[in-house]
Amino acid sequence: MRFSLNVDHIATLRNARGEDQPDPVTAALIAEQAGVDGIVVHLREDRRHINERDVRLLRELITTKLDLEMAATDEIIKIACDVGPELATIVPEKRQELTTEGGINVIDNISRLKDAISDLHRSEILVSLFIEPNINQIDAAAEINSDFIEIHTGIFANAISEEEQFDELDKIRIAVKHAKKLGLGVNAGHGLDYQNIKIFKEIPDIDEVSIGHAVIAKAMFVGLKEAVQEMIRLIR
Ligand code: PXP
Repeated sequence: MRFSLNVDHIATLRNARGEDQPDPVTAALIAEQAGVDGIVVHLREDRRHINERDVRLLRELITTKLDLEMAATDEIIKIACDVGPELATIVPEKRQELTTEGGINVIDNISRLKDAISDLHRSEILVSLFIEPNINQIDAAAEINSDFIEIHTGIFANAISEEEQFDELDKIRIAVKHAKKLGLGVNAGHGLDYQNIKIFKEIPDIDEVSIGHAVIAKAMFVGLKEAVQEMIRLIR
């Protein structure tokens, strides 16, 4: 299983002072040296953390791969097609939310997402849809030619009882198997941390996990290189 690091929180801290430090691009380069397989950033419509300069510089400087999380809006699709990340992960986006709150409803947004995927494919960008572990949503993602799905792991991560955690893990296991049968790549993320990754990594066939908050939070105390390497040790 590969591990991509989300560096949005570095940009949140930078923007808190309206100055230029800490720089998410520097963080990405340190994370690459520490061994991550890719860098993830979410270019939000309100630019609350990552901005266009970050995305363009990351595109130029990183040597692993860039996963651009984005809403399927005309403005952001245009930027994505211009920048050319290896992967565009389409997420639902609400202005009021603190972080992405759940998967996108592919079935209810099928024609908009189909068009977005066609546009991104025309620019040779692979597409992933961030969705709940639900068979019907996975079928819809495959139907509109998504290359990957990213399974929302927030319910698993926030489960308050072991029973709830294992129920959700079962749903994810079934979803992964179904998606693989349809030929989709499978990523996963949201709320994964140094504890729950130990159980999560037992699910077979997940191509990649995307983790941000837990690693950046740990990095505050031990440094980014050590925080990344500890997560890599747990994942592999
Ligand atoms: N995947 C997606 C689609 C996300 O929106 C996020 C949060 O930015 C993550 C993964 C990473 O979640 P976390 O920061 O909780 O590790």
